[in-house]
Amino acid sequence: MEFSAPFTIQSANWRDLQDLYHLEHVCFNQDAWPALDLLGVLTFPGIVRLKADWDGKMVGFIGGESRDHQQTGWIITLGVLEEYRGKGVAKALLEECEKKLAVQMVRLCVRVSNEAAIHLYKNQGYIQVEIWPQYYRGGEDALVFEKYME
Ligand SMILES: CC(C)(COP(=O)(O)OP(=O)(O)OC[C@H]1O[C@@H](n2cnc3c(N)ncnc32)[C@H](O)[C@@H]1OP(=O)(O)O)[C@@H](O)C(=O)NCCC(=O)NCCS
Repeated sequence: MEFSAPFTIQSANWRDLQDLYHLEHVCFNQDAWPALDLLGVLTFPGIVRLKADWDGKMVGFIGGESRDHQQTGWIITLGVLEEYRGKGVAKALLEECEKKLAVQMVRLCVRVSNEAAIHLYKNQGYIQVEIWPQYYRGGEDALVFEKYME
């Protein structure tokens, strides 16, 4: 029997700015990007932007960017609305973003205290390679993870 998820992963565009602004603020608080940066994520060329749509509502978003002449991709933002967490939304967004980036290696960074995200990345085959001391607002370190694509 085939299982179908109750959400779909779709390309996002500038029309999603308001929903993305809301999502960023509830997911990231002090780390949330300003609206202008979010507009950039939704419009600049070379960026993969995907949303998870659940009954017409944006419940998750991922942004990915390829750098270094397309050899390395970076996940620049990933968030899921709290009431939709634990349902595989982030995993689906991450897998689709990795495919669309089509690079040899994907990297990302995360606050050391962010257990949920660290679990997700480890489960998805990411390995911690660096620590960037006091990278985040408030002085928290960042863990840098990377994954080689098959
Ligand atoms: C991190 C975040 C994106 C995870 O989203 P999610 O949709 O709940 O994640 P998923 O349901 O796809 O979970 C995928 C895997 O991650 C792990 N995971 C997710 N949340 C977890 C939690 N709270 N505790 C432990 N593991 C967790 C699970 O191991 C799960 O694997 P499983 O399939 O074996 O259960 C979400 O908690 C979030 O938006 N947090 C706030 C923003 C944020 O921190 N973003 C990441 C910044 S680097």
